[in-house]
Amino acid sequence: MGIEKLVGNAKVIADVCLQFGDTGKGKVSGLLTSEWADITARGTGGDNAGHTEVVDGVRRVSHVLPASIFYDGAGKYSVLGQGMVINLQSLAREMEEIAKAGLSHGNLRISDNAHLILPHHIDLDSKNTSQANGGIGSTGKGIGPAYAEKIARVGVKLRHLYDPESLQEILTRTIRHNFPSMPDRFVNYMVGGYLADIRKDILPIAESIRGKVIDAGSQLRSWIREGKKVCLEGAQGTDLSIEHGTYPFVTSSDCTTNGLASGVGIPASSIDLVLGVVKFPFMSRVGGGPFPTEIGGVEMEKYCAKNEGNRLRDELKRARVSYQESPQGIVYNHNDVQILWMLNQRDGSTQNTGLRLKANEYGATTGRPRRVGWTDAVAARHASQVNGSPQKLVFTKVDCLSGADEFKIAYAYRLPSGSTTEEFPTDPELLRKVEPVYTTYPGYAMTGREREYDQLPKSLRKAMQDLSDFVGQPIGMVSVGADREANIFV
Ligand code: IMP
Repeated sequence: MGIEKLVGNAKVIADVCLQFGDTGKGKVSGLLTSEWADITARGTGGDNAGHTEVVDGVRRVSHVLPASIFYDGAGKYSVLGQGMVINLQSLAREMEEIAKAGLSHGNLRISDNAHLILPHHIDLDSKNTSQANGGIGSTGKGIGPAYAEKIARVGVKLRHLYDPESLQEILTRTIRHNFPSMPDRFVNYMVGGYLADIRKDILPIAESIRGKVIDAGSQLRSWIREGKKVCLEGAQGTDLSIEHGTYPFVTSSDCTTNGLASGVGIPASSIDLVLGVVKFPFMSRVGGGPFPTEIGGVEMEKYCAKNEGNRLRDELKRARVSYQESPQGIVYNHNDVQILWMLNQRDGSTQNTGLRLKANEYGATTGRPRRVGWTDAVAARHASQVNGSPQKLVFTKVDCLSGADEFKIAYAYRLPSGSTTEEFPTDPELLRKVEPVYTTYPGYAMTGREREYDQLPKSLRKAMQDLSDFVGQPIGMVSVGADREANIFV
């Protein structure tokens, strides 16, 4: 039995991450779309996301569009909900790439109420939030400033582009909000400049997608009433949620089922099944902020914050691992003896780099080296509870740790007072001071060709069951490789 075992009778499924993002939600929603869903919708974030899918060895990455776009030709609908912030230039680029690859985007629908990321958001973001400038290390895509204007009620929505008068009015409000003491004549001057840029670079795109712009919430509710099967594709992860993450080291939307449902215009009660995606038995974080189970600790946070050159190439050179440049990126043997040696070293810095190279943990959007550490069951349980039931856990990238002598899972934190807790404190200051209490498991070897649960190594099965018991949710699926077909349904 395949995907039916995972989805059961569900009609609306949310695919969300129980960590800091980059857990493989793109693979899960690609799988759901290709084999089950009629419609896949995004409701949060923008082109800060990077969803990767590998089908028959071909790697496809999308940033704004949901993974379902690759199945448009098969009659599947893709929806960008009103909770997103959309950079139309990025969207146009992605649509062009889709067309170049011989694929279609005829069934793409975009909410007229989605907010736009405009050039000044990107300027503000790179100035204020880069780690080099003491910021939280955002993706630099303008996400925070666009959401800030939305919440301040001065944001520009997609529908404003089709109504020149309201566009001028809302831009005037935006500039007055951003520069409260600026005299009117300068405000008008700035509005003129913004309008000229928008007319030149953005309005032609708005015109070209006009036929796809609809009241997406209403359409989705109507599809759900008709009994269509819907996949809600989360972006980022619960620990990066503006509501439930490690604020202020978070993104600017609520990455949980609640934010996702609200962002596509349906009640969260419409969701019949939550798929809580957990990278296992290691995890990653990109950007600044506390990460209790990070291998090598704060030194590795500082190291990963440096934004210079191509870090993958540098790390491969330092590790003396040979590689090739290809149109798909840098290609190397993830099981190189040198990488395996590094993975099993006791010093944090070597082991951290070894794990990153072994699992290829470099940002799909930014190319940044991801910070890596052991799976944190305390954080996963908190995230799982916030996302709700019924829920099944989806373990991803389990094949990546093949060859490690041992691995660890944190089931509690030791607090500075000396006592231990199984609760996840979202206060970043406290979270930086906790010490994970680990259970250590023996390492394992995998081929990546395992397709039955019983074929998985014993210690991996034991650790997944322990985490499932601790979190209180059953295991639904184990992903044993990047390819869409490499899965075990439990
Ligand atoms: P922003 O979403 O670009 O504002 O970035 C805010 C924080 O979220 C930063 O720490 C980013 O590294 C992180 N972040 C945003 N998008 C992703 C993602 O898709 N994967 C992992 N981290 C992300």
